[in-house]
Amino acid sequence: MKHLITLFDLTAEEFFQVLDLAAELKQKWQQRERPPLLQGRVLTQVFEKPSLRTRNSFEAAMAHLGGYGIFLSGKEAGLEGREALADIARVLSRYSDVIVLRTFSQELIEQFAEHSSCPIINGLSDDRHPCQALTDFFTIREVLGEVRGRHLVFVGDGNNVARSLAIASAYAGASMTIASPPGYELPAEFLRELKQRVPAADVTQVNDPIEAVRHADVVYTDVWASMGQEAEAEERRKAFAPFQVNRELMAHAPSGCRFMHDLPAKRGQEVTDEVIDGPQSIVFQQAENRMHLAKGLLLWLLRSAEAER
Ligand code: CP
Ligand code: NVA
Repeated sequence: MKHLITLFDLTAEEFFQVLDLAAELKQKWQQRERPPLLQGRVLTQVFEKPSLRTRNSFEAAMAHLGGYGIFLSGKEAGLEGREALADIARVLSRYSDVIVLRTFSQELIEQFAEHSSCPIINGLSDDRHPCQALTDFFTIREVLGEVRGRHLVFVGDGNNVARSLAIASAYAGASMTIASPPGYELPAEFLRELKQRVPAADVTQVNDPIEAVRHADVVYTDVWASMGQEAEAEERRKAFAPFQVNRELMAHAPSGCRFMHDLPAKRGQEVTDEVIDGPQSIVFQQAENRMHLAKGLLLWLLRSAEAER
């Protein structure tokens, strides 16, 4: 059974198959076509954390494709201990064709998938955000025409989004630089695993944001404190202050460079209004593309699950 718990669950070829399918479906949507390719299929989403984009883009995607969406908080699903996780997975997957989980722990998604009879999608965990990174490379390809050879510069925390972007960059043949304050870099163990799985990966970790953006095709940032790190917010605000993406930092990047952010943004912290609302920003195209990518991913995963039966 194929799941998407981390981008390592896809090969580079499969990564591009999902992007291509999403592009086809986006084109149809732009022509006002909503082909009922998932008619009668049920998507169940179980979220332990809030979500605007992930939850609603999957639900809209499912509706456009003729399917149905069910949403449960983690508590409603019983993830807080009402019953054994394996039992929840066995039951919910019998009602569903595909399940999206948003959790704190990556292990919870892995254990859920072990007992699930339908594909599981990671809709964000503390460690990973694969749907976001797929969307981001879909968007970069749409805007810049080609992802191979592009240079992505992530300014900020070596978090879930940064990790998934690093894997996506490696698959896409793009290079990536991550500029973080000392102590907030990508974990060395993760970088080792990436290099081992994708030897051609070109991911560099630095501590100087100005040097980092000099050759960027895209400057990308994310919140300094992720969901679950609220208690560290003040300490992080101090550590990340020199890493704000503002007009001054963007002035060190090439003039054609684009700005991306997975959203939600804390305006005035990791990014200023003038950058996120400025001409280089493609953040709302990126947010819209979550829905198109969700369609491509749902269709790709359900087709491969049905092919296995
Ligand atoms: N980018 C993203 O995943 O947004 P949500 O947290 O609103 O789903
Ligand atoms: N790194 C952020 C991403 C939100 C979409 C978080 O985990 O809160």
